[in-house]
Amino acid sequence: MQLSDRVQKMQGSPIRKFNPIAIAAEEKGKKIYHLNIGNPDIQTPPCYLEAIKAYNAKTIGYAESPGDVNLQDAIIDYFAQYDIKLTRQNVLVTNGGSEALSMAFNVILNEGDDVLIPEPYYTNYHTFVTASGGSVVPVQTTPENGYEWATEAQLEAAVTPNTKAIVCITPGNPTGRVMTLDEMKIVGEFAKKHDLWIIADEVYREFVFDGKKPTSLGMLDDIADRVLIVDSISKRYSTCGGRVGILVDRNPDFHDAVMKIAMGRLCVPTLEMIGATELYRLPMSYVDSVRAEYEARRDVAYEELMKIPGVVCQKPGGAFYMTIKLPVESAEDFLIFMLEEFEDNGESMMFTPAAGFYATPGKGIDEIRIAYVLCQDDIRRAMELLRLGIEAYKNR
Ligand SMILES: Cc1ncc(COP(=O)(O)O)c(C=O)c1O
Repeated sequence: MQLSDRVQKMQGSPIRKFNPIAIAAEEKGKKIYHLNIGNPDIQTPPCYLEAIKAYNAKTIGYAESPGDVNLQDAIIDYFAQYDIKLTRQNVLVTNGGSEALSMAFNVILNEGDDVLIPEPYYTNYHTFVTASGGSVVPVQTTPENGYEWATEAQLEAAVTPNTKAIVCITPGNPTGRVMTLDEMKIVGEFAKKHDLWIIADEVYREFVFDGKKPTSLGMLDDIADRVLIVDSISKRYSTCGGRVGILVDRNPDFHDAVMKIAMGRLCVPTLEMIGATELYRLPMSYVDSVRAEYEARRDVAYEELMKIPGVVCQKPGGAFYMTIKLPVESAEDFLIFMLEEFEDNGESMMFTPAAGFYATPGKGIDEIRIAYVLCQDDIRRAMELLRLGIEAYKNR
């Protein structure tokens, strides 16, 4: 019996693969500050569970494949705040943003197609693109240049005859980089010129800092038919375990095609959609308060990082991640040291080595990603542990 070539080309999640080492350290009594995964500690808005608890039908039956209509309507109202006009025919509710991505690539890719993604990128893109028979082609960036990527020259250097789509993750994971509206327009012109789909992964849409306004590729009317918007309750509403996401399209051919897959997987959990409806109905003032907290956390993390000699890091403009170049040869080796050997008063911290966020072999080996999803005091302590850990690692 054989496994598919596609699955053998995939990599295991670099975000989750070190968990067994961390669990072993915790079982020995070490406290680990987890900055390794984007799992926010902010309270899920109570309206989510209240709506689920109020459910009183005798049976939890299947829901409709495109999603509960009340949730679709709440999503339509949410996007109207960005002047993005949708109908239920444009909105597919999915099992997390992850399923939205997986479905989108399944619908648009043939075996051998290429997908342009600025690297470093959210590592699961590699999984989803590969599962659909495609390959990731990276658009090159550098930490020194703030991970800027959306220039015509950079895009034209990366495009291949097999390019079918381009991914914009904005605000970005793992760099926290936020695209400007002008950059979105450049990508739009490029996509029109090469007839590409645009995957607009905007699950961190409102987490933009320094007074900037949230935007969306969905606001550009001239590319509406080629933009597929991915959204989710995981980050904006701190409901990662709810597993509700959205795939927005304004292309009837795409929609008919994606519905074949959506009907095949029947539906998204009925109760979770009832809770998610209340989340999408929350006023923007709720999201503003969450953004303010992440901005404060970013400032703490950045201030503390700047105290560590040899670190290269740009202050990110959004999301809740930073990619950081460390003064070590191998971030992976250093992480294992942090988990297995290092401790300060019984404590250590965990990050994600960034090599797995790159498609280009050899890149990112001395870089890490942190997710500032802990309270400000914990972030300050975690950054102190990082500094002490680097010193101990160098002196070992
Ligand atoms: C950029 C990006 N897209 C999509 C996802 C998937 O999120 P979910 O499936 O929880 O909605 C994540 C999760 O970390 C992410 O960072």
